[in-house]
Amino acid sequence: MRDLRISVTDRCNLRCPYCMPREVFGEGFRFLAREELLSFEEITRVVEAMAGHGVAKVRLTGGEPLLRRDIERLVEMLAGVTGISDIALTTNGLLLARSAQRLRDAGLNRVTVSLDALDPAALRSMSDAAVSPERILEGIHAASDAGLTPVKVNMVVRRGQNDHCVIGMAEHFRHRPEILRFIEYMDVGSTNGWRAEEVVPAGEILAAIEARWPLEPMPPVREGEVATRYRYRDGGGEIGMIHSVTDPFCGSCTRARLSADGQLFTCLFAHAGHDLRAVLRSAGGAEKLERRLLEIWAGRSDRYSAERAGRAAAQPGEPKIEMSYIGG
Ligand code: GTP
Ligand code: 5AD
Ligand code: SF4
Repeated sequence: MRDLRISVTDRCNLRCPYCMPREVFGEGFRFLAREELLSFEEITRVVEAMAGHGVAKVRLTGGEPLLRRDIERLVEMLAGVTGISDIALTTNGLLLARSAQRLRDAGLNRVTVSLDALDPAALRSMSDAAVSPERILEGIHAASDAGLTPVKVNMVVRRGQNDHCVIGMAEHFRHRPEILRFIEYMDVGSTNGWRAEEVVPAGEILAAIEARWPLEPMPPVREGEVATRYRYRDGGGEIGMIHSVTDPFCGSCTRARLSADGQLFTCLFAHAGHDLRAVLRSAGGAEKLERRLLEIWAGRSDRYSAERAGRAAAQPGEPKIEMSYIGG
């Protein structure tokens, strides 16, 4: 256990169909109530307990984490935890321009921004909302200017929707400080109607870019990294491929995930979590929490992506957790 991903809200201001399809996450959907959410103090207690057992890296996610009120206060609290050396945040970028500097001042180290296309029509279909790519680019630039670097940009590629935007995105981010990463569309959750035909294999994306601008592989920055890194041979900078469908990386996974209501998941594709909120809200203090964490991690045997190929596409009656709940 090295890396803890913390979802701070299950709400989002977009409705990307691959993550929060509007038909499911519409008017009638019951999002978590305030009292169900872990408080910043409770989240910090979990991070303190984990920092004592190897976790050095924390990533805040959602839903959209910038929708959680006073998120800077949480960043500040986590930055003060001994042993935590890297605090990152994954956002859709819509609220980033106005909060980048405040996040930086609070102690955030870096951000990753999701941006699936620069072409307005493709972005509209990928996010099911009238978002302007310029607004997200402003957020990205504000983050780079504030020193939340290296800023990474995540592009989920879906066949027939935004695969024609791959070269344009690569071109835009060449010779820029941001690192563009291409993500294979994954079968997370049970609501997005995932079909294997819509996955564009990372190898195909790589070949298309390579044909235009020759690339060379780069060594991983650290063990267990999700993106395979490449750089343009002409000095145009770095890109990444996240190939969890065609080439799973479960074997080196050191990630645990905490939902906004305090369930700990040991895999992105889990069906059930472990209730840490109950432990946090019961008597017993830090020791009890640490004991529970160690028990959970020792019992871990997840390798969903590695086993995916060998199982039936869907397991009816056993819904997986949703990306908007666990944060990716
Ligand atoms: P760095 O700290 O910069 O290495 O960030 P990261 O790549 O861990 O974070 P990010 O939130 O940008 O994740 C990128 C993509 O990889 C997201 O779509 C994640 O859902 C996916 N991903 C992250 N961890 C896992 C994992 O354990 N399994 C699978 N299958 N996908 C993952
Ligand atoms: N497949 C791949 N990536 C996804 N994301 C959300 N849902 C999916 C999916 N089904 C991405 C988001 C964000 C990151 C955390 O995960 O776009 O960049
Ligand atoms: Fe919101 Fe991110 Fe999910 Fe899109 S992928 S709906 S921006 S949480």
